[in-house]
Amino acid sequence: MSAPATKAPVLVANEVSMVFGGLTALSNVSLQLGEGQILGLIGPNGAGKTTFFNCLTGLYTPTTGSVQLRGRVLPHDPASVTVAGVARTFQNIRLFPSMTSLENVLVGRHARMSQGPLASLFHGPAYRRGEADARTRALELLEFVGLAKVHDELARNLPYGDQRRLEIARALATDPSVLLLDEPTAGMNPQETEATRQLIFAIRETGVAVVVIEHDTKFIFSLCDHVSVLVQGQLLVEGAPEVVRDDPRVIEAYLGKPPDEVEAEVRQYTEEAGPDTQVKDTGGNQ
Ligand SMILES: Nc1ncnc2c1ncn2[C@@H]1O[C@H](COP(=O)(O)OP(=O)(O)OP(=O)(O)O)[C@@H](O)[C@H]1O
Ligand SMILES: [Mg+2]
Repeated sequence: MSAPATKAPVLVANEVSMVFGGLTALSNVSLQLGEGQILGLIGPNGAGKTTFFNCLTGLYTPTTGSVQLRGRVLPHDPASVTVAGVARTFQNIRLFPSMTSLENVLVGRHARMSQGPLASLFHGPAYRRGEADARTRALELLEFVGLAKVHDELARNLPYGDQRRLEIARALATDPSVLLLDEPTAGMNPQETEATRQLIFAIRETGVAVVVIEHDTKFIFSLCDHVSVLVQGQLLVEGAPEVVRDDPRVIEAYLGKPPDEVEAEVRQYTEEAGPDTQVKDTGGNQ
């Protein structure tokens, strides 16, 4: 299930630092995300994980350092970063609550559409075709994340777990090469968490590389090819899940329990998930 490590990186962060007033939230953090890789970013509260995502997506301008997507430096502007191919979800869900699920996904789709202002003004055939295609794609994505049935439901009426999945569908609607997920299973029950793990495998199968922030280490160690640990704004350790979970520095600074206990938890978690832990064929959907 793990991606070959030899593939060229799709996303590279070079020594990114972020200083807020007197507080250094990130200090020279680097990351290389390979094509088709699922990378986990873990660390204690306040370690700088979300700040790092904000730097990767142009929401923050790093104090020093740069971010490159396929060798091109990304601008410090979220809309341009989205168009370049980096999409994200937020730790605190940011949907349009009074719009339907479908409309929320269409918002993401429109970030990709090339309709000029005149086309939208006159609503000509090209515009209508574009809108119809966008709707078809948005419905496909809702189906892909398991929300087809609630496409007409207002986002605010969806259960919490569905709202998180809707955010993922909206992010995928921008046709990203890289998807950044900030705590995608926060507040989910074990079944929803497992469904999300399968969804992320399926997303990877469509060719999207994924970075996941999560506090649930069983989830991270059973999902990711590579794990980076941030502590107090610094990259403490990175590597394969089994290397990271056995590292005494990670145990001391974050996990707080011996490696065999963590390993047993991950084994139990994967076994409980059953044979369904295999990657499903998604038919090229994203
Ligand atoms: N816009 C900001 N202005 C000032 N300080 C900030 C800002 N954003 C983040 N910080 C600070 O940067 C540090 C890192 O915060 P961040 O939200 O990135 O942590 P995190 O690892 O995502 O934590 P959590 O697991 O709780 O989500 C914290 O001390 C936080 O208070
Ligand atoms: Mg955070």
